Amino acid sequence: METNLQKRRENKKSLRVKVISLGNAEVGKSCIIKRYCEKRFVPKYLATIGIDYGVTKVQVRDREMKVNIFDMAGHPFFYEVRNEFYKDSQGVILVYDVGLKESFDALDSWLGEMKQEMGSHANMESIVFVVCANKVDLTKRRVVDESEGRLWAESRGFHYFETSAQSGEGISEMFQAFFSSITDMCENGGRRPASGVSAGFTREQADTIRRIRSSKDSWDMLGVKLGATREEVNKAYRKLAVLLHPDKCVAPGSEDAFKAVVNARTSLLKNIK
Ligand code: GTP
Ligand code: MG
Repeated sequence: METNLQKRRENKKSLRVKVISLGNAEVGKSCIIKRYCEKRFVPKYLATIGIDYGVTKVQVRDREMKVNIFDMAGHPFFYEVRNEFYKDSQGVILVYDVGLKESFDALDSWLGEMKQEMGSHANMESIVFVVCANKVDLTKRRVVDESEGRLWAESRGFHYFETSAQSGEGISEMFQAFFSSITDMCENGGRRPASGVSAGFTREQADTIRRIRSSKDSWDMLGVKLGATREEVNKAYRKLAVLLHPDKCVAPGSEDAFKAVVNARTSLLKNIK
């Protein structure tokens, strides 16, 4: 009798969850999982064929969690195999290589593929996302900086971690935060708790910083047409300054974006009579 009661209590405390890994081929998804589960790193590239599956048990606070990990192949060739596995995931590990800009730019399409496969009833609020900016050990070839990656992740309410499967940097911290958030979500009735990742800045601020970073010239940066008047430049500048002033905006990269806007305004005004 007592053993049954004890068993029931234990069952209540144990969770079964499904997590998947997503990201372009060769960014390091399998190596991140291997580093965590097997504490080792394999330098040779062994492309995942379709899906790799593994189970691991973790302890989060007073709960034991059985984690089913579906490690997806990043190569487009495996789309037909992957698409079956998106459903019923509680967690997603999104990975890009900090040395390959296209792998960072591809994160949006990975989210797109996932949404499409999960169908219209998909509830992205019931999934914990963690973004891994991977291969940070290769500092010389880095092209996507921390603020850019963090901005993309945190503006969506996703966790962001700088990782290296090679050195182990950030790996256990990332998995700890990931599993702890999934536990919080399960305890919160299956909804990602609002306090999970609090960005502290708005989507508008994040989008503006991204737009400023990719603008082609000062006109474009201020969002005014070529040949705009002083008044138009100043009006556009004031709007951006209110949005991005370092006293008001804590979004990663806001300080640089603000400086760029100040410089753009100065250079435009110099040339307008
Ligand atoms: P697919 O299965 O094809 O989607 O690729 P994947 O994302 O699983 O990549 P994988 O983990 O197989 O790693 C690809 C290559 O990058 C391998 O040669 C790894 O050794 C290397 N690699 C992975 N992570 C790191 C890292 O943090 N630093 C360095 N220097 N190399 C890494
Ligand atoms: Mg792989």
